[in-house]
Amino acid sequence: IASDGTKHFTLTIQTGTTEFLPGKMTDTWGINGSYLGPTVKVSRGDHVTMDVVNKLDEPSTLHWHGMKLPAAMDGGPHQMIEAGGTWSPNWTIDQPAATTWYHPHIHGKTAQHIYRGLAGMFLIDDEDSKKLPSDYGVNDIPLIVQDKLFTSDGQLSEKDDTTFGTLGNEILVNGTYDPYVKVTASQVRFRLLNASNARAYDFGFTDDRSFKVVANDAGLLEKPVTLDRVMLSPGERAEIVVTFKPGEETILHSYSSGSGIENGEFDLLKVVAASKLTESAPIAKQLSSIPPIKAPKDAKVRQFKLTMKSEINDKKMDMNRIDEVVPAGTKEIWEINNFGSSHNFHIHDAAFRVLDVNGKKPPEYERGRKDTVFIPNGATVRLAVEFGNYPDQNHPLMYHCHLLRHEDDGMMGQFLLV
Ligand code: C2O
Ligand code: CU
Repeated sequence: IASDGTKHFTLTIQTGTTEFLPGKMTDTWGINGSYLGPTVKVSRGDHVTMDVVNKLDEPSTLHWHGMKLPAAMDGGPHQMIEAGGTWSPNWTIDQPAATTWYHPHIHGKTAQHIYRGLAGMFLIDDEDSKKLPSDYGVNDIPLIVQDKLFTSDGQLSEKDDTTFGTLGNEILVNGTYDPYVKVTASQVRFRLLNASNARAYDFGFTDDRSFKVVANDAGLLEKPVTLDRVMLSPGERAEIVVTFKPGEETILHSYSSGSGIENGEFDLLKVVAASKLTESAPIAKQLSSIPPIKAPKDAKVRQFKLTMKSEINDKKMDMNRIDEVVPAGTKEIWEINNFGSSHNFHIHDAAFRVLDVNGKKPPEYERGRKDTVFIPNGATVRLAVEFGNYPDQNHPLMYHCHLLRHEDDGMMGQFLLV
């Protein structure tokens, strides 16, 4: 923290080796370490400056996924950091508490850079979120879930012979193979991030215990929703609060939901509760004090067509073409029509609320603020989108499918906030 109150972070993108599988060293990439990056923690209202240092011998970027900020600071494909270079964006955190994240966004190579290990969490808190368990690493635990394919000598295989790209058969949580966590509190908040290239997870516990979903990608829900499963497609986040009794053991598992996106069954994380647990206050009935995103009656409606091809509205991403021009700070309705395959949809510098899926309201746990949403095959999903208020004629922002192979293949468009 500088004397003017600015929070300063240095994030160095580098190569390294990591022992995921016992006795085998894997070549990996990481940020300030050999795999993944540090959790950045800030509060609403903070001013942050970043020094992103690229020690790779090729260009990369770092994009702040879920952040509302000036387009020049976004870290998308137009903010390349050359090999050996440093990029220093700065902005003021001006959005509700959320579990956001960061990762590279080089056009055509995002899948590879994330898969090799470049990603981290970026947590924003505010007065509402502090009422939830907030002791980081104790009762507030981030879980970055990724699938990997290992070669017989323990290297990361980048074989991508599916239409979704690389699909792994082993799961890493926070870069750990076969992980477990010992919890010491009766209520634990897990921040789930699906940072996989293509795989979706239908999270639940093997003893079918229920938990409270308290937040979507871009903010707290109005009220907690009690559930025993929560599905996340790539790029999506959810926060859940789980209650434990002393000495209990359970396993966080991914179920096969038949959502149409590759998910499969995996044990993700063994959770062991200590024999003595710190009691915490019950979860508040009202979480977010921020009203849900509403688009005005006369809101502009834009339509986006997804098909089997990696295109949006029959066009592949073109770095030199602006697809949409949106007045900064407005609310619009974006209607996504999926005519083929499994996709999801993410919008930079925006938060949205899912209005309906095929004309029906989304499940209660998906009615909060989001920035990435699963679009089932054949579905029409309507979003009320609230855009950032940073007009800029020169720096485009992205919307795209967050299945990284699709994104790299061109399932992405550019918009200007003006
Ligand atoms: Cu997480 Cu445009 O990305
Ligand atoms: Cu897709």
